[in-house]
Amino acid sequence: MRDTAHIVTIDGPSGSGKGTISRALADLLGWRLLDSGALYRLAALAAERERIPASDDSALAQIAAGMNATLEYADGVERATLDGEDVSEALRSERCGEFASRIAAKHGVRQALLERQRAFARPPGLVADGRDMGTVVFPAAHLKLFLTASSEERAVRRHKQLKQKGIDVSLRSLSEDIGQRDARDANRKFSPLRAADDARVIDSTRLSPEEVIARILPLLEAAGIGPNRA
Ligand code: C5P
Repeated sequence: MRDTAHIVTIDGPSGSGKGTISRALADLLGWRLLDSGALYRLAALAAERERIPASDDSALAQIAAGMNATLEYADGVERATLDGEDVSEALRSERCGEFASRIAAKHGVRQALLERQRAFARPPGLVADGRDMGTVVFPAAHLKLFLTASSEERAVRRHKQLKQKGIDVSLRSLSEDIGQRDARDANRKFSPLRAADDARVIDSTRLSPEEVIARILPLLEAAGIGPNRA
């Protein structure tokens, strides 16, 4: 399966625009989407519901391996379920993101989610969004992208997103949370956030999503990937 699916990976820190760009690319190419962060968030939610503390590594790994969860993307909408319940909204809270980032530092949890992530790769192709898509999960991807943006810009973007959802948090506290989460993701021992050596790095600080896509199109072309060829 893996051999016949084209794979584009998009890694980067929170607020770098990965989600928007990944969805746009999946739509453009007519490919599947893996929002790997949502899998970590699902594991966090499952662990929280079972009242498993962040210190219990083996129970966390078991939950991540055995959780009854689904993740789908269709018609521009991501849907996640846990034990049959739609948890798409619950996953997006800052609290869930924070706990996800804590359990994502654990080797057992990462191992437990590895095959689940790889199973998303089906023909014609997959756009995989995360922190270690190009380095660990899909090291043989056809095109690897790494999106960055200044930390100020990322906090402003996240603030806007939350405001649109009616969630009121101060820009300052958001900025601090993002900084802490970035530091944890970048400095952890297992699969830290970093660009793969063969990744193309795009700084989206002053770019609109359309401008980012415009930079990616020639890279897809050069990698022999296109809506008509996929
Ligand atoms: O991208 P998102 O904010 O949904 O991810 C939630 C958390 O999951 C991140 O802060 C990160 O710690 C973790 N994560 C990860 N590896 C991935 C995707 C997400 O460690 N591939």
